[in-house]
Amino acid sequence: MTEADVVVIGGGPGGYVAAIRAAQLGLTTVCVEKDRTLGGTCVNVGCIPSKALLTSSEHWEFARWHASEHGINVGELTLDVATMLRRKDDVVGQNTKGIEFLFRKNKVTWAKGAGTLRGREGDRWRVDVQGEGEAATTYAARHVIIATGSVPIELPFLPFDEERILSNVGALTIPAVPEHLIVIGGGVIGLELGSVWRRLGARVTVVELLPNILPGMDDELVREAERTFKKQGFDLRTGTRVTGGGRGERGVFVDLDRNGTTERLEGDHVLVAVGRRPATWGIDVAALGLHVGKRGEILVDDQMRTNLPNVFAIGDCVPGPMLAHKAEEEGVVAAEVIAGQKAHMHYRSIPGVVYTWPEIAAVGLTEKQAREGGREVRVGKFPFSANGRARSMGESQGFVKFVADARTDELLGAHLIGPNVSELVAEVVLGFEYRASAEDIALTVHAHPTLSEVTKEAALATLGRALHI
Ligand code: NAI
Repeated sequence: MTEADVVVIGGGPGGYVAAIRAAQLGLTTVCVEKDRTLGGTCVNVGCIPSKALLTSSEHWEFARWHASEHGINVGELTLDVATMLRRKDDVVGQNTKGIEFLFRKNKVTWAKGAGTLRGREGDRWRVDVQGEGEAATTYAARHVIIATGSVPIELPFLPFDEERILSNVGALTIPAVPEHLIVIGGGVIGLELGSVWRRLGARVTVVELLPNILPGMDDELVREAERTFKKQGFDLRTGTRVTGGGRGERGVFVDLDRNGTTERLEGDHVLVAVGRRPATWGIDVAALGLHVGKRGEILVDDQMRTNLPNVFAIGDCVPGPMLAHKAEEEGVVAAEVIAGQKAHMHYRSIPGVVYTWPEIAAVGLTEKQAREGGREVRVGKFPFSANGRARSMGESQGFVKFVADARTDELLGAHLIGPNVSELVAEVVLGFEYRASAEDIALTVHAHPTLSEVTKEAALATLGRALHI
């Protein structure tokens, strides 16, 4: 039995960051991870590899369609998917090795194997770790942080085989550009990974159950996204139910029903991206008496405490958006609370980003949510087409939109679609942290010529005084 102040179960962005912070605060910390590498879904099969492929496919699209506009003629282009995938794997490797380095630097012990939270003996929690082909190690922990993440939701007639019927995992390793990729779910994963393969030459059909893609995002932003994605060649089938599917002669088939009109689609692969559900590997919720919600999510307070003494939970396995940066912040809060600090989590200013092109980013309330909440609002919008830097980049699609309280001018929501808005949103999030007004951003000097001037102008537009339109 090895003693530890903190045992973190799960080495994804929530878990590994919690472990680093706990160790920084002087706690003896063990992080249990069952996979061969640290980093969890985000680093291994999510955020990082998808961004590597998004970048590669953006370069391909530029070389193929836009380089000549700049007077750059590249001759005959060839695509080497194997090299592209290898580069993606290298990028993942750099990141997982980076976490191992951080563990060594901060003296976090990586317990390799599957962790099981057994129960409490005295004031210690017992966590067993079963490594492959090894005897189990038992840890006696004063505190436990559960960071077991999430898994993709499967459709009953389309069980993942990661060859033809793909989750995010298989969609990152398709060995050759498909002729037709069917995507079920017009959410973040469907649109990001759909973008990768569309850029590389696949026909991509996105089937979305609801009337629009990207449910939950601001209506105007969704309309602009749908218009742009259709122009790019996405076949968007919204308001369409998938009634069946399976492996077929050519690869896969998917049966659709749109208001009673049925159709069968055939494709080389189908990516099922209809959401994820909390995972609680090694946590016998019933036996432990751990309180969970309807979807199996572990219920926590704003200090990430579960109902069990000294057991905390963070990340995708607790309520809230399944985002790496939300998990990281929760990990820091849990570690600091364990160390006796007064940290607590607040969710008002967590940005959401979709890494398509144009990129999409949002923070705070949509216009509809603000109005439905009984707020009187003022809205300001400014297009990238009126921005010199965007035009010089040849990237003038999209806009920045602010929703502000009409009485106090406090910013309630920001909705951005356009070039590099994944970076531009950071300024707005900082503003939200300080409860900024639209005028605060409007009065801030923004360098010229930069894309960030669109943010300033949108804030000015909220006050009815945009300058360049
Ligand atoms: P999602 O919740 O973003 O989108 C799922 C979509 O599938 C929704 O539009 C939903 O209406 C639709 N849908 C559900 N059932 C359906 C059905 N039977 N037929 C057709 N459509 C159906 O989930 P997604 O894209 O799978 O991503 C999972 C999680 O991973 C999300 O919580 C997301 O936040 C996170 N993620 C975040 C990324 C980012 O921050 N850039 C990137 C990738 C994933």
